[in-house]
Amino acid sequence: MSEFHALVPAAGFGARMGIEVPKQYLDLAGQPMIWHAISTLCACPDIKTVYVVLAPDDEYFSQYDWSHCEGKLAPLYCGGATRAESVANGLLAAELEPDDWVLVHDAARPCLTQHLLSRMISELRDDPVGGILAVPVADTLKRADAQQRIACTEPREGLWQAQTPQMFRAGLLAGALAHCKTVTDEASAIEAMGLQPKLVASDSSNFKVTYPHDIVLAELLLKHKNN
Ligand code: CTP
Ligand code: MG
Repeated sequence: MSEFHALVPAAGFGARMGIEVPKQYLDLAGQPMIWHAISTLCACPDIKTVYVVLAPDDEYFSQYDWSHCEGKLAPLYCGGATRAESVANGLLAAELEPDDWVLVHDAARPCLTQHLLSRMISELRDDPVGGILAVPVADTLKRADAQQRIACTEPREGLWQAQTPQMFRAGLLAGALAHCKTVTDEASAIEAMGLQPKLVASDSSNFKVTYPHDIVLAELLLKHKNN
């Protein structure tokens, strides 16, 4: 029977956060940002291993206490120059069975809940392609011109914002990423193979911490988190 594994790309610098420490190690509600997503993934009974793809020279990860992860945690010091490269390197190093499911989740999405995780696994475990958590676009969309004035209003019908986890068979994903090095998420690589990943409805609480002002909201959500 195929197993479920998580893979957490965590080899970025967090340039848009504008601080010296990589953003995944910023303190968030008393723990480094990366601790929250890893702890949620490790607590999921379906998930066997949580691979964390770190920069080869990462000096932070090993300084924290990971004893609550019950031997599920596998750090891999093989991060690359882009997120796609980090994921591809991690998949190679993890040596998963081609039919195993892998849930790729950003270290920078600390507010993932057990509820969303189990919804995703139960909706996709028998799917022929796999899929991603995503949210239907709620705001009205404007296209800007070169002067940052509104050129037009774009219809938002049928538009979704992609989140993570993104869940695919390990063999399919490794093959897709080998052909497609410039993508910003795993689904794009699968789409480039002519396949159609499923959209699993999520909510905006699973947002990506990118800019300094995202920290306040993430802390607020984490303090009230009850899965
Ligand atoms: N990531 C990675 N390897 C890279 C770049 C990014 O593993 N070479 C990871 C980040 O650590 C993060 C996730 O991919 O967990 C999502 O990327 P993003 O939010 O863009 O993080 P950064 O690339 O670190 O931030 P920025 O783009 O602002 O520099
Ligand atoms: Mg980035």
